[in-house]
Amino acid sequence: MYLLGIDVGTGGTRALIIDEDGRPVSSATGEHEPFATPKIGWAEQDPADWWRACGLAVRNALDRANLGGDRIACVGFSGQMHGAVMLDARDAVVRPALIWCDVRTEKQCMDLSRKIGEERLIQLTCNPALPNFTLTKFLWVRENEPHNWERVRSVMLPKDYVRFRLTGGRAVDMADASGTLLLDVAQRKWSKEVLQAAAIDERLLPELFESPEVCGKITDAGASATGLKAGTPVVAGAGDQAAGATGMGIVAPGAVSATIGTSGVVFASTDRPALDSKGRLHTFCHAIPQRWHVMGVTQAAGLSLRWFRDSFGAGVDDGRDPYERLTEEAAGAPAGSDGLLWAPYLMGERTPHLDPNARGALIGLTASHGRGHIVRSILEGVAYSLKDTFTLFEAMKVPVNRIRLGGGGARSSLWRQIQADVYGHDVEIVEAEEGAAYGAAILAGVGAKVWDSVDEACSSVVRIAGKTSPQTAAAETMKKGYAAYRRMYDAIRSVTGTD
Ligand code: XUL
Repeated sequence: MYLLGIDVGTGGTRALIIDEDGRPVSSATGEHEPFATPKIGWAEQDPADWWRACGLAVRNALDRANLGGDRIACVGFSGQMHGAVMLDARDAVVRPALIWCDVRTEKQCMDLSRKIGEERLIQLTCNPALPNFTLTKFLWVRENEPHNWERVRSVMLPKDYVRFRLTGGRAVDMADASGTLLLDVAQRKWSKEVLQAAAIDERLLPELFESPEVCGKITDAGASATGLKAGTPVVAGAGDQAAGATGMGIVAPGAVSATIGTSGVVFASTDRPALDSKGRLHTFCHAIPQRWHVMGVTQAAGLSLRWFRDSFGAGVDDGRDPYERLTEEAAGAPAGSDGLLWAPYLMGERTPHLDPNARGALIGLTASHGRGHIVRSILEGVAYSLKDTFTLFEAMKVPVNRIRLGGGGARSSLWRQIQADVYGHDVEIVEAEEGAAYGAAILAGVGAKVWDSVDEACSSVVRIAGKTSPQTAAAETMKKGYAAYRRMYDAIRSVTGTD
């Protein structure tokens, strides 16, 4: 018996097949068309393209493993969060989806905050109105394209649209629903007060499920598009962050992940909906019943290093990966980069500043600094930025007992050491770093009763591949560096500020 996880990402849809021991058997990705940006700050994708990519990915993953669809016991989903998919009475897509990174809805955010009250909105949904969140996207369509909104008969999130095509059912999990601003995250049900204030009919919304719950079965049409077998059960799954954390075993309170991809996310599992009163962290349901999570986001984490590589090159091409060459240069500079500091605000910042106009900076240059210092300061600055989320966790009394690293930041031994030194804590890496699709496959396994619970699944399949401990002297240097880093944002703002 095998399990299938499908991650409907932004760049592509990935299908991952695992066996009952949690070992990856095969995977394949169907690329998406790049998202359209008809105007600055807009980001749109065609939901039909996700469905096409899903068919391709699943077929290829089955072929590569030489498996028939009848060998898959259950299917789980994960996906890019927050996107607004709108369907008409015949279930045709009304207009392209406004996806997570579309930030055109500043006005709708302000209107909502004014109407409901900023504090009340956080009480009701655990989060403030941010342009990433789905409700604000519906409101934009209603205000700016009334002819389109009039035709809308149901709404859903990206992965749930793909599941709708596979099963014919309209379903969503608590974790992904948390990013809509329509969920009472503490009570795990749609918020009647927000729906009423925003004048959104609850009948438009999909049915809510817990992530490992079976919410539908594959239809004949779904089967012929994917090569899967009609009647195969499908679980609700989770948004990509909760699914990715599940795949790394971040399930019990005290477990925290720090993932450096293009952006950086620090994610903590909690047994209560822990709130930051200023809304600087996202407080969402976890992929596990009666569990929540808080997460902070650094906009330009891996992106800082990519920016350096693209702008200044990665040294002499000796056939090795450019990032390996860059981190080798960085390893030649001492901890603390001889006083050089990097503020990674190349794309504004979410946590903790919630400032789309924040600007990056390299501070403290002297003639004796070289490329290696600069690259090292970038690695350190990104870790300092992630540390800001740990600092908020401390203030909110969110426990941090173990830290697991993910993404590109976990693959470099130097960046692992820097993170251990900056966080002042041991950091671990896991064996199967397969991302959100792995979490989706684990959730499918719980749905298929391979494991009794997500906790049990994670403790039997997530294996630790290594541990890095902080080095005393370097950790002391990084502590001083972090104190200096904390003063950079205000200083930069006083120079580049847009007020
Ligand atoms: C989470 C978030 C991203 C998207 C895209 O808040 O914005 O993780 O889900 O992957």
